Amino acid sequence: MDIYAHRGSSGTHPENTIAAFTEAARLAVHGVEFDVHLTKDGELVVIHDEKIDRTSNGTGFVKDMTLAELQAFDFGSWFSPNFKGQSIPTLHEVLQVFANTTHHLNIELKSDIFPYEGMVEKVVAIIKEMGLDSRVVLSSFDHEAIRTAKQLAPHLETAALFMEVLVEPLDYMRAIPADALHLFFPTALRPSIRQVLEAGTIVRTFTVNEEQYTQALQDAGVSAIFTDFPEKMQTYLNEKN
Ligand code: G3P
Ligand code: MG
Repeated sequence: MDIYAHRGSSGTHPENTIAAFTEAARLAVHGVEFDVHLTKDGELVVIHDEKIDRTSNGTGFVKDMTLAELQAFDFGSWFSPNFKGQSIPTLHEVLQVFANTTHHLNIELKSDIFPYEGMVEKVVAIIKEMGLDSRVVLSSFDHEAIRTAKQLAPHLETAALFMEVLVEPLDYMRAIPADALHLFFPTALRPSIRQVLEAGTIVRTFTVNEEQYTQALQDAGVSAIFTDFPEKMQTYLNEKN
């Protein structure tokens, strides 16, 4: 079972910052996950929430500020004074961290609250420009964005994100279409997911921070977990297997 560092190494470093990604890049884990929004001036930035309030010393919506305005805030001190001065990273800056590693990159398109017109096109273009196509999976709770991504770049792997317990998931996946399912982890163990796994579909689950849950997920055939503690979880899996 593969490990993805969720929002970078976000259990030990401030989530979705260059510090968290540099730490993830140092680790021998399969991949890294991060969240993308669009600024007022159309720049792709990596942050989880629509607002900057929780993870910075500022307030307000990403969509209402320019990149330069967002870069004036501190995105590290809320986590620890040791990370004072961490800025909001652009998607380009994050991809640069992994330009010379082998990590797989799960770019989550956070357009499920605000539609961020043109965001999918920009993300697809930057992936192409940086030659990262074979290492990327695009995911979203916004399944329209996944459909758009597939239309623009059919060769890119896509994944539909779900919090819910699903019925007939294969039919729905084909309708989007999406290549993989990224599920809230308790739902991955439900009977409806068995047919997905038996059909050979990739299922990854979030967010798994406790070792005790890995065995059931591995036994069920889940391909990967997203975790805030990638080093701890990778060490545990290496020792167990
Ligand atoms: O992509 C997996 C996971 O990150 C989805 O939930 O809210 O942490 O972005 P969230
Ligand atoms: Mg995410």
